[in-house]
Amino acid sequence: MQRIQAVSFFSFLLEDFSRFPASIQHFAGKAFETGGEILVCRQEEQPVGVLCLEQRGGERDVVYLYVLEEARRRGVAQALLAKAVEDARNEGEPVTMRVIAEHPYAACYRALCAKLGFAPAVTATIFHARPCDPEKKAAWEAFKARRGRRNYEWVLRKGGAVSRFSQAPAAVLSGMKEEVGRQFPHYLDPFAVPNPRQDEYSFLFYEGDRALSFVTASQHGNRVLFEQTACRKDCRNTGAFFPPLYHFIDTVIQNQIHLVTFTVYDANLAVHKMTDGYLKEILSDRKHQCTYIS
Ligand SMILES: CC(C)(COP(=O)(O)OP(=O)(O)OC[C@H]1O[C@@H](n2cnc3c(N)ncnc32)[C@H](O)[C@@H]1OP(=O)(O)O)[C@@H](O)C(=O)NCCC(=O)NCCS
Repeated sequence: MQRIQAVSFFSFLLEDFSRFPASIQHFAGKAFETGGEILVCRQEEQPVGVLCLEQRGGERDVVYLYVLEEARRRGVAQALLAKAVEDARNEGEPVTMRVIAEHPYAACYRALCAKLGFAPAVTATIFHARPCDPEKKAAWEAFKARRGRRNYEWVLRKGGAVSRFSQAPAAVLSGMKEEVGRQFPHYLDPFAVPNPRQDEYSFLFYEGDRALSFVTASQHGNRVLFEQTACRKDCRNTGAFFPPLYHFIDTVIQNQIHLVTFTVYDANLAVHKMTDGYLKEILSDRKHQCTYIS
């Protein structure tokens, strides 16, 4: 007899989930922080399956779905996901689930999505870089000497400057805020997620009072998550993407960051082009992801 129940973070912490992969702690914490949901499936009172949902804007994203080996192929995951969809529907929200094509259980997650009527929505490529690797570091230095310097000099020639967000002149920041939605896409709004941890790896490139391009990223221990990059509309294809990236890469190398993760939506051709052009020297592997939506 299986029973599914939404549990509070407090009761999650009191129960023993040591048979589940350790990442459950992180994802249950995320569910709690964002106002998402933790669903537990029990058989004879013992937890056999867990699903964690993170609340993201008006949708709920499945960030963890795991069923203990002895309980698999009995519909536990399907029942958990169906309950997540039902709860979200009661709030008028969809559920999304990201499936990494290279994950060993990708086919199962896809089958689950199909069974519950999820549709594929967007695809993205996930790039990993290991800036500590001496070979990558040497490749980046060689790239800088070969092409990078020429691109970077574009900044100096035009009198532009790069600084951390916190150190950028107030006039640049206030002008940029007004241009979100016009020169910078509204979905790439660096001011929408104020996060002090981001500052070490977040750079703004400007000329006079005009912001030209930016990079924002956050640090999680020895890993850095590359969050956004954008170039103002009337500066596209000029190489203006490069200066904040240049500082970003130099900083992660200098700070001995172990891993940098970049997620680039496949529809965003400009960022793909930039990733291939400027980041390829430090990239170590790439994976593919599809987001399904209920
Ligand atoms: C993927 C997983 C959640 C599926 O859980 P489950 O309770 O066994 O899934 P269900 O019984 O609800 O299966 C639903 C559908 O998914 C598909 N599916 C599930 N397991 C499958 C498998 N091993 N092979 C092929 N299809 C599978 C089937 O279409 C199945 O429907 P069916 O049984 O009617 O054919 C579970 O196998 C799991 O937790 N795997 C480990 C995942 C992992 O290692 N994650 C990384 C660490 S977080």
